[in-house]
Amino acid sequence: MQEKIIILDFGSQTTQLIGRRVRELSTYCEIIPYNKFPYEDKNVIGVILSGSPFSVYDEKAFKTELDRLRTHYPVLGICYGAQLMAYEAGGAVEPAPSREYGRAILTKVNEADPLLKNIEVGSQVWMSHGDTITRLPEGFNIIASTKEVAIAAYHVEGEKTWGVQFHPEVFHSTCGTQLLKNFVVDICGGSQSWSAESFIESTVAALREQLGDDKVVLGLSGGVDSSVAAVLLNRAIGKNLTCIFVDHGMLRKNEFRNVLHDYECLGLNVIGVDASARFFKELEGVTDPERKRKIIGKGFIDVFDEEAHKIKDVKWLAQGTIYPDCIESLSITGTVIKSHHNVGGLPEKMNLKLCEPLRLLFKDEVRAVGRSLGMPEHLIKRHPFPGPGLAVRILGDITPEKVSVLQEADDIFIQGLRDWNLYDKVWQAGVILLPVQSVGVMGDERTYERAVALRAVTSTDAMTADWAHLPYEFLAKVSNDIINQVRGVNRVCYDISSKPPSTIEWE
Ligand code: XMP
Repeated sequence: MQEKIIILDFGSQTTQLIGRRVRELSTYCEIIPYNKFPYEDKNVIGVILSGSPFSVYDEKAFKTELDRLRTHYPVLGICYGAQLMAYEAGGAVEPAPSREYGRAILTKVNEADPLLKNIEVGSQVWMSHGDTITRLPEGFNIIASTKEVAIAAYHVEGEKTWGVQFHPEVFHSTCGTQLLKNFVVDICGGSQSWSAESFIESTVAALREQLGDDKVVLGLSGGVDSSVAAVLLNRAIGKNLTCIFVDHGMLRKNEFRNVLHDYECLGLNVIGVDASARFFKELEGVTDPERKRKIIGKGFIDVFDEEAHKIKDVKWLAQGTIYPDCIESLSITGTVIKSHHNVGGLPEKMNLKLCEPLRLLFKDEVRAVGRSLGMPEHLIKRHPFPGPGLAVRILGDITPEKVSVLQEADDIFIQGLRDWNLYDKVWQAGVILLPVQSVGVMGDERTYERAVALRAVTSTDAMTADWAHLPYEFLAKVSNDIINQVRGVNRVCYDISSKPPSTIEWE
C-alpha cells in the first residue's frame, strides 16, 4: 500500500510548495484539482486544502464537498482552505482591514493541541491573505493567534479537522515543518517510508511489469531529468532501452562528446546523432526567437523519429517528464490547463505508448533518485540548459562561427564558476552573444568586435529568479580571460536583471 496525503488545489501559488514539504517528510502526496478528489482511493490518509486567489464569498470561488472530507479523513485547511471550512459551517469571513502580508509572530498557542505540538509562543509564521475569519462557527475553537489575527489557527471539536490562516509551507514560517509533521505523522499516522530507495524499488518492479519484453526509446538531452529516467529504465529493462542523444549543433563546448561518454560509462545503450549540419542549414538567416525554437523543436522530432525507426519493434517512448510538468494547473476561470511534455508533439507523431517513470517526482527528488542510482555528481548537479541551446543565446541569425565564439566564451565562464566554487551556488549560468560590435584597443591596434553578456541567476524553480551577486574579482577575471582568449570578442557585460520582469534567457 502506498499511503498518501491528498492536497486539494484551490489555485494558490504555494500549492506545489505544500507538496514538496510533505514529500520532505518522506511521505507520498498528490496534488489534485479542488473538484477531483479521489474518493475511491483507499490509500488516502489525510487531506490538505490549499490557499486560493479567490475569496470564499466570491461567486466564482472554488468549492468542494467538504462533508465528504471532514470526519472521513483528517483535514488541514491552509489560508483559503481554513476560511472555506469556517465559512461553509456558518462562520464569517471578511476582507481584512489591510492586506496582511509577511512575517507575524504567534502570541497565543494552545500547546496541548496535537497540531501545535512543540510549537511555542514567539514562533514566526508567514501571512499572505486579503480576507480574515472574523467569527468561528460553533465547535470551532481558536488554538493560536498573532497580534493582528485572533483566529490564526482553529480546531474543530470532536473531529480531526484544523485550519490555519498562515502558510506553514513557506520557508519563513519557522514552525511550518513541525506543524506539517504534526499533521502528517502524528494526526494522519504517516509512516514516513517514502524515500528515493523505496521509489526506485517499486518503480523498477512496476516498469518491468508494464513493459515486459517491449522495446523502448528515450531522448537524452544531457539534463538531469532525462538522464535519471534513462538510468532507472536501464535498471528495469536493460538492453531493451535505446537512448538517442541528438546534437543539434547548439550544445556547449565539447558537451556532445563528454555527455555521450558519461552515458556510456553508466552502461546505457546510447546512439549519438550529429545532426548539426542539418540544423545550421535550416536556421540560416533566421532571427526571430520563436521561429528558431520552432525550427529546432521540429528538427529534433524529425531526427529522433528517423533514428527510432531504425530500431525494430519499438513500442514505447520514454520521457523524463517530472511532477511540476504534470500537475494540472488551475487557471483563474476554473478551467484545467492540460499537462505539457518536454518534447511536445513527439508521442503523437511516433504513434508510441508513453512511459514517464519520473512523473511523480519533484526536481530535488529526481536528484536524490539519481544519487541513489549511483550517477556521478556532475551529471546530477548540472545546471538547466534550454532545449534550443545556444540558439536562444545568439541574438540575431546563427552561424557556425558565432556558435563557436559563444562556446569558447561560455566555457571560460562555466569553468571559472567551477574553479571558484560558485557553480553550485547559482541556479543556471551562460553567456549571450550580442548583435552589436564596439570599439576597443588591443596593444596598439584599434578593434571593432563583438560584445557578450554574462548571465547567472539564483532561483528555486525558474519561475522567478534573481541575478547572482557574483564577486567582482571573479567577474573581472572572467572578463579578462574572455577578451584575451576568445577571438572576436572585445567587451563583456554582466546582466543584472531579475525575473520578472526579465526572463532568464534573452530570447
Ligand atoms: P526563461 O527564459 O523563460 O527560462 O526565464 C526559464 C527556464 O526555462 C529554460 N528554457 C527552456 N527550456 N526549452 C527548454 O527546454 C526552451 O525552449 C526553453 N526556454 C527557456 C531556461 O533555460 C530556464 O531554465
